[in-house]
Amino acid sequence: MEEKCEDIISKMTVEEKVSFLVGIGMPGIFDNPPSKVDGVAGETHSIDRLKIPSVRLADGPAGLRIKPKREETGETYYATAFPIASMLASTWNKEVVERVGMAIGNETREYGVDILLAPALNIHRNPLCGRNFEYYSEDPVLSGEIAAAFVKGVQSQGVGACVKHFVANEQETGRMQIDTLVSQRALREIYLKAFEIVVRKAKPWSVMSAYNKLNGVYCSQNYWLLTEVLRKDWGFEGFVMTDWYAGDNPIEQIKAGNDMIMPGKAYQAIPFGRKDEVEEILKAVASGELKEQLLDQAVKNILRVLIKTPSFKNYAYSNKPNLTENAKISYEAGCEGVILLKNDMVLPISLDTKLAVFGTSQLETIKGGTGSGDTNPRYVINIIDGLKEAGLRIDEKLRVIYENYIEKMRQTEEYKIQQLPWGWPLIPLLPQDFLSDEDIERFASSNDMALLVISRTSGEGYDRKPEKGDFYLSDDEINLINRVSSRFHSQGKKVIVVLNIGGVIEIASWRDKIDAIVLLWQAGQETGKILGDILVGKVNPSGKLPTTFPKDYNDIPSKNFPGEPVNDPLTISYDEDIYVGYRYYDTFRVEPAYEFGYGLSYTTFRYDNLNVSSLNNSIKISFEIKNVGSFAGKEVAQVYIKAPLGKIGKPLQELKTFHKTKLLKPGEVEKIEVRLDLSDLRSFSGSDWILEKGEYELRVGSSSRDIRLRSRILLN
Ligand code: GLC
Repeated sequence: MEEKCEDIISKMTVEEKVSFLVGIGMPGIFDNPPSKVDGVAGETHSIDRLKIPSVRLADGPAGLRIKPKREETGETYYATAFPIASMLASTWNKEVVERVGMAIGNETREYGVDILLAPALNIHRNPLCGRNFEYYSEDPVLSGEIAAAFVKGVQSQGVGACVKHFVANEQETGRMQIDTLVSQRALREIYLKAFEIVVRKAKPWSVMSAYNKLNGVYCSQNYWLLTEVLRKDWGFEGFVMTDWYAGDNPIEQIKAGNDMIMPGKAYQAIPFGRKDEVEEILKAVASGELKEQLLDQAVKNILRVLIKTPSFKNYAYSNKPNLTENAKISYEAGCEGVILLKNDMVLPISLDTKLAVFGTSQLETIKGGTGSGDTNPRYVINIIDGLKEAGLRIDEKLRVIYENYIEKMRQTEEYKIQQLPWGWPLIPLLPQDFLSDEDIERFASSNDMALLVISRTSGEGYDRKPEKGDFYLSDDEINLINRVSSRFHSQGKKVIVVLNIGGVIEIASWRDKIDAIVLLWQAGQETGKILGDILVGKVNPSGKLPTTFPKDYNDIPSKNFPGEPVNDPLTISYDEDIYVGYRYYDTFRVEPAYEFGYGLSYTTFRYDNLNVSSLNNSIKISFEIKNVGSFAGKEVAQVYIKAPLGKIGKPLQELKTFHKTKLLKPGEVEKIEVRLDLSDLRSFSGSDWILEKGEYELRVGSSSRDIRLRSRILLN
């Protein structure tokens, strides 16, 4: 491989080397020719003289995003829509996520794409980040482990993954120029840690540097980040690409260790101030500003990877991936990611239950987020169809009322679905409280139960707001909940709320008005079917929160989001440092609505026989989990460490590893053994990792606040 790369590079002219580093421009946008695979996000230049083919890069974390139809053929190119990343993390199931990666890898390969621009593993620093749906968690261990499983799955199919956005890109506001100020410790223990885990465990073929600056220097131009940390500390052997049109200096990007510049022709999208990157780099080489051996190093980093791609192997892709098989994997992952937040003797419900379904997202079901993380599936099973498919008796009159209402409202100026630039849809939230008292009374009388869907959309390019209708329910959503619950409760009938959302919303102020809450997230194309099977008990929910649901937005630690100055931020300082998510709420005793790692089941589990032993530098932890309820189910056991108070402040506890059981029948026991490395107990202080002596408490829990077993580890 090395010789082959050296040989190719030795034959390349300087012009060919530079063209190899810079994309052809956004394929099919501006005056650029469309790619052979219409809809890909980027493409490299081919060098026909040396039989170097062009290579295609496409999004995204919830499935391959390419155009589903092409002018020239009547063929279709639908790809499976999987659950959003936050829902994949909610499964806490590495095997399931690896299968999702394999399925997306299969579709990436069979549609002629070489690199999938996923997974994205920025941290849920603030609930309002518009792209949190594309990210996994507030915790770096859960993020890194889930990302590693995803990358292994994708790359097992012979195509590359690209982990993004490296690093500290936790907001959309001002993302292309904002300077993110983060301490070394918060970087190493939180923001870099997730990437470190995936780089060391899954060896991604590529990394995408982030738009933002990190402590004053663009990530794509940051030598410390891309060479010192990524390559020298972690041993990364792939190549680094920019985010699209990121940074402001291609020469600095090459010098910093950012090998590939995507999509190329930045002057097309940013006409003022950006030039043609190829010309700029050629000029810098000619003037000696950029040494040719740096050029060669970048070409080599890229070539070593691209030589493995299907395009370089002339793979005859079929355009016929196994969509039917992959739909089942999408369904399975969604079933494992649903989180049961509340269940006062309601769920599961019997098949002959007559259900009155409220909320427009029963029909306008949200399958995922918008922007580059969107998908183009063959179909989406909406909630109402999924409930019917599961065998539930839906009030058809009420469904028709919603169908007519939606049709009418979407024709109005105010509520029509708009297309943002780049073709991304903006879906205005419809008023929910339009039914009359008589209507609600009538449906309460003629049905056994109410189901009410609350939905939210979010996407790339903009952050959410701490306002009603976004983080908080709108007045009309509250009114609907009040009116439906009072009418149904007055007749002794229960009310279930389903959250079809992509990120955290406020729940504490209204959860006592209703009897059950199912966090369905945005579960991809099988969303409705997943919900139906959960409600009737065909599937027992086993998801756990990958991110805290605070009682109120004002409880969050990242109070300066999205930065200063407020209306057009130029800097964001991560002042909360390492105290992100439960690390903050637990340490500073702020009660959340639902804690990190929380999720109910239709059954209950007992934890027994914790045994901890240390061998050389590793700690062996074994315990048993027994299903002591009457329903088969899966449990997610979480292992936290509470460090002793030492020289530096520490969070109350930190997740170190986790294990999801197989499906346990009632009475069945699973013996579990997990291992920790002593190095997992270190903290970053000053400029290095330190392992403090003292007594560490090991806590095994069903959530971060439901600790079932404890033990002690003495380090002296
Ligand atoms: C976007 C996103 C990145 C995506 C790329 C190509 O701006 O930040 O996640 O992969 O451009 O669409």
